[in-house]
Amino acid sequence: MKLLKLTQLLTAIVGITKADWQFRSRPDLAPPKLNITNPASHDVEKGFLIMAPFAGLLDITHSMHGPRVDADRTSSATTATSSGPVTDITPSGDHNSAYGHGHGHTTTMDQQYETIRELRAGNHKLTDKHKFHVIDEKTALIQIYQPVPRDLSAYSAKREQQWIIDAVFQELDIESGKLLFEWSSLAHVSPNESVLPVTEGQAGSGYNSSDAWDYFHINSVDKDGEGISPRVTHALCIKSTAPTARYYGVSAAKGAESCFQHHARFKSRDGEEEVISLYDNSAHSSESGSGKEIHTAPTSCGKIVHLNTRTWKATLVQAFYPPDDLLSKSQGSMQLLPNGNAVVNWGSEGALTEFRADGTPIFHAYMDSGFLGEGVQDYRAFRYNWTGLPNEEPAIVCLGDKNGSTVYMSGN
Ligand SMILES: *[C@@H]1O[C@H](CO)[C@@H](O)[C@H](O)[C@H]1NC(C)=O
Ligand SMILES: *[C@@H]1O[C@H](CO)[C@@H](O)[C@H](O)[C@H]1NC(C)=O
Ligand SMILES: *[C@@H]1O[C@H](CO)[C@@H](O)[C@H](O)[C@H]1NC(C)=O
Ligand SMILES: *[C@@H]1O[C@H](CO)[C@@H](O)[C@H](O)[C@H]1NC(C)=O
Ligand SMILES: *[C@@H]1O[C@H](CO)[C@@H](O)[C@H](O)[C@H]1NC(C)=O
Repeated sequence: MKLLKLTQLLTAIVGITKADWQFRSRPDLAPPKLNITNPASHDVEKGFLIMAPFAGLLDITHSMHGPRVDADRTSSATTATSSGPVTDITPSGDHNSAYGHGHGHTTTMDQQYETIRELRAGNHKLTDKHKFHVIDEKTALIQIYQPVPRDLSAYSAKREQQWIIDAVFQELDIESGKLLFEWSSLAHVSPNESVLPVTEGQAGSGYNSSDAWDYFHINSVDKDGEGISPRVTHALCIKSTAPTARYYGVSAAKGAESCFQHHARFKSRDGEEEVISLYDNSAHSSESGSGKEIHTAPTSCGKIVHLNTRTWKATLVQAFYPPDDLLSKSQGSMQLLPNGNAVVNWGSEGALTEFRADGTPIFHAYMDSGFLGEGVQDYRAFRYNWTGLPNEEPAIVCLGDKNGSTVYMSGN
C-alpha cells in the first residue's frame, strides 16, 4: 500500500517549527514534544531528527510510556535476512539507573520494524546499553560493564570494598554473532588513572557487584584503527590493534581538552593525522544527584579535534557551544552531517541544537514534554533519512463536523 510511505517512526520529528504532536489516530502514544526556541533556518540538513527522550530519575516510576530506545540508525546495508536497510538497533534489558549502565542484549530491526537479529556478548558477559556501533555493515562494537572482585587497597579502598568494573568492549560479527575481538580496561589502564575515587555516590563504592567501582566508565567505542572513549579517566582515545591493545595519553592544547566526554568518533585520517569528533560534557555527577558535582568548563560543547598520533598532541578544530549555557552532567552526542552541519544533543539537559560548520546555531529545541515531565533527558540524538514501512496497517480516524471531515492517520 503506497500510503505506508507516509508513515513515520514514532520518535522521528521533521526539523521544522511545528512539532508538538499528539496523534489523533493514536492518542495512546506520547511522542516527544519540542519547545523550539530557535526555529530551523533554511540550511538545516535534510532528514529526520531521531531522538529518544526519557523521563529524568525523579519520575521514572510513572512515565515509562514514551519511547525508550537508543535512537540510532547505525547501518544502511541490506543483510541476508532483511528486505530493506537495517536501521534501528536498540539495546534492551536492565538499567542500573544509579550508575548509568545496563545489562541485556541488542536487537536489530528492519524497515518494517520487525526484529531480524538479536546479538549477545561473547565470553559469558552481558551487553551494556551505551552503544551498539556498526562497522562497515559487517561487525558491531559493544560495551560491557563487567564487575570483578579485586584487592583495591592500593586505591584507598577499605577491606570490604572489593568490586571494580572492568570496562570491556567486544567486536562481534553481526551475521553469525561470533566474538572477533575483546579488550579489557583492567588489562591496560590502571585504576589509579581514574579521576573518580572509590567512594559512595560517585562512581560506585565497591561493596558488592551492583555497586562496583566504575573507574573507567566506557561509553563509546569506534574503530578506524580502533579507538575508544573512556569517560572517567579523561583520556581521549585508546588505540587497540589486535591482538594487543595500547593506551596512549594525550596532551591537549588549550580548548582541545575534554572531560567526562561522550560519543568520540573518528572522522578522517591521513597518516598520523587523525580528526575526531566528540561531545565534551566538562561535568560529572552521579545520576541520582548524590555525591559531588565536578565542572571543568562553564558549559558542555561539541568538539572537532585534530590529533597527531605520533606526538599525541591534540588541537581544537571547531567547537559548538550551547545557546543557553547548558552543562550536562551525563550523556550527550555530536554528529557531523553530510552538508557540514553538526547536531549536538545535550544529554541530561534534554535539548538539541543543529549548527552550521562554523558553530552558528540554526535550530535549537528543548525536549520539554508534558508527559515526560521536567528533567527529561536524551542519551543521543541524530539526523538521518529514514523511511518506515511498517507491517502494521495504519491507524485511521475520521473526525467530521457540519463543514466536512478530516482523516488522520499514523503508522508505527
Ligand atoms: C521553552 O524553553 C525556554 C528556555 O528554557 C523557556 O524559557 C520557556 O518557558 C519554554 N517554553 C515552554 C512552553 O515550555
Ligand atoms: C598506578 O598503579 C601502577 C600499578 O598498577 C603503579 O605502577 C603506579 O606507580 C601507580 N601510580 C600512581 C601515581 O600511584
Ligand atoms: C550493595 O552496596 C550498596 C552500597 O553499600 C548498598 O546500598 C546495596 O544495598 C548493596 N546491594 C546488595 C545487593 O547487597
Ligand atoms: C538525506 O537525503 C538528502 C537527499 O539525498 C541528502 O541531501 C541529505 O544529506 C541526507 N541527510 C542525512 C542526514 O544524511
Ligand atoms: C465551518 O466553516 C465556517 C466557514 O468557513 C467557519 O466559520 C466555522 O468555524 C466552521 N466550523 C467548524 C466547526 O469548523
